[in-house]
Amino acid sequence: MLQRAREEGLAAFAAAGTLEELRSAEVAVLGRKAPVSQVQRELGRLPVEDRPAVGRAVNETFDTLRRAVADREAALRAATEGEVAEDDRLDVTLPGRRPSSGGLHPLTQTLRRVVDVFVSLGYRVSEGPEVESEWYNFDALNFPPDHPARLTQDTLYPAVPGRDDLLLRTHTSPVQIRTMEAQQPPIYIVIPGRCYRRDTPDATHLPVFQQVELLAVDEGLSLADMKGTLEEWARAMFGPEQRVRIYPDYFPFVEPGAGVDVSCFLCGGRGCRVCGNGWIEIMGAGMIHPALFENTGIDPERYTGFAAGMGIERIAMLRHGVPDIRMYYEGDVRFLSQFARGA
Ligand code: DAH
Repeated sequence: MLQRAREEGLAAFAAAGTLEELRSAEVAVLGRKAPVSQVQRELGRLPVEDRPAVGRAVNETFDTLRRAVADREAALRAATEGEVAEDDRLDVTLPGRRPSSGGLHPLTQTLRRVVDVFVSLGYRVSEGPEVESEWYNFDALNFPPDHPARLTQDTLYPAVPGRDDLLLRTHTSPVQIRTMEAQQPPIYIVIPGRCYRRDTPDATHLPVFQQVELLAVDEGLSLADMKGTLEEWARAMFGPEQRVRIYPDYFPFVEPGAGVDVSCFLCGGRGCRVCGNGWIEIMGAGMIHPALFENTGIDPERYTGFAAGMGIERIAMLRHGVPDIRMYYEGDVRFLSQFARGA
């Protein structure tokens, strides 16, 4: 009886393939209702002289079966851990999977480059609101009330109840006024920002675009300082061989006003399909009109200054040979990824 109980018990443990199966086998083989336990309970009914021998046999059977359960449990645990370890195995010699990383938008790259060069020349970054008043965008900049530029710049007017003087700024120049109002010279600032005009999108126009403006006000600044500064900027931007030329142009807020060309950085100034005659028109500039000083409380007898403004999309198009401004805003990754550099 004990012999059979032992053999069946050992067989049941050996057959258990999982820890759960082993637990139920253990209950069946060693529990209260198990054959060995029944023999143990009936010991008292045996003749006195037989009890020591049968008792010993019962204990040995229990020992054997308990050891067998412990061994099987250890074996099953080891096997499960082995499987887990196999599943989780890490082969550190496999080549890694490189996460695809983004990059700065090409317009952001160009904007930062333009601004960084001026910062390296000692200019401080200054910003202003995109919803402006007519005063800052036009009047204070010396645009007369009926000046055609107000129309040709095709301004967008947001509907703000009780405020019919608000507009979306058409250029970054109003920040000149805000800065001169807020502080006395010396002023050396560079002004990046988004601008808005009622333009129909085409290859060279979008209703939303970005400009960078420059403003310097100090004692004794002349047109030579302006040209030297812009030339220095152009060399840092496009290469040490750069030349800059200025010619008369009209903007109400500068006198004299100037157009600024840089020598073509694609053909080196010899003349190509992009530039035609070797020069590329790149910004407007000029000496600050005294009316702006009067409008902002700066002494026009003591101070002079210069300003310049340029379009970031145009510079980025020229830098990268991009033929259509809209490509910068379509968000096509096949286009954008060509400009991806680390952040
Ligand atoms: N604000 C002008 C525009 O948007 C650009 C400009 C021209 C800015 C001459 C200036 C400047 O500061 O002096 O067309």
